[in-house]
Amino acid sequence: MSLMGFLDRIADVTAFDKAIEPARRAVQGMPSAVKDVLHGTWLGHPLHPVLVQVPVGSWVSAALLDAVPPLRPAATVLIGTGVAVSVPAALSGAADWSEQGAGVRRLGALHAVMNTAAVGLYGGSLVARARGRGTLGRALAYAGLGLAGSSAAIGGHMSYAQSSGASHAATAVRALTTDWVDLGPLDDLPEGRPTMRTGKGGSMSVPLAVVRRGARVDVFVGACSHLSGPLDEGTVETVRGSECLVCPWHGSAFDLDDGEPRRGPAANPQEKLEVRMDAGRVKARVPSRHR
Ligand code: FES
Repeated sequence: MSLMGFLDRIADVTAFDKAIEPARRAVQGMPSAVKDVLHGTWLGHPLHPVLVQVPVGSWVSAALLDAVPPLRPAATVLIGTGVAVSVPAALSGAADWSEQGAGVRRLGALHAVMNTAAVGLYGGSLVARARGRGTLGRALAYAGLGLAGSSAAIGGHMSYAQSSGASHAATAVRALTTDWVDLGPLDDLPEGRPTMRTGKGGSMSVPLAVVRRGARVDVFVGACSHLSGPLDEGTVETVRGSECLVCPWHGSAFDLDDGEPRRGPAANPQEKLEVRMDAGRVKARVPSRHR
């Protein structure tokens, strides 16, 4: 069995859920404004992969510097930097993890346990170095790097194979034709609430969420960027001062003007289509970055 197949087997183990659920509920109980900071909603990009660059980069660099005796004091500084930043990195990962599907949560729990153990080893390394036990300090740091690297592979599997953190709307928009799509008469669209229209795809129709406000029409890919929730079944609400399309699944709110997330758990923007009117009919097409 391949390594990835092994990880998929772990993601299938439902017995983990009983232990995971209390932690998940505790994370979900954080104030929504705090969670949105941790998700990266304010950034329009998931925060966790940004923050983890610091511990990973610091610890890999420290491993190299530890191999050169005159540079070992610098390695200690880098290890301390990685340990310090691992705290906000873990919190942002936990916020994202709590809003993912069951398989991602199971692997994410393993990822968190391994990372916690790695931080423990690095903490022990710092203590050993402070006490003048350099050999032990380096051994603990190399063990920590091995554990953190293995855990990073699990995180990569969660991102690339399980699509956690990826924009599900970006995947959906690529299935659309690049031509203008006729969405029907403007007068057929309900006022102030999302409705579904379908766009032509290469081999299938792609659901679109269409919102009419007077003569203005905003058209989005129907699959929410967070986890593909049906935005056409959502609502239009004012969120943090912006008129937003709100997902019915986890409450992410996307600005009707530009698709930027105004409330999480989504951190990626919602794909918005270009719109034009043609003799009273609404036409839409994918933005030029996808053509
Ligand atoms: S699918 Fe989670 S907020 Fe839309």
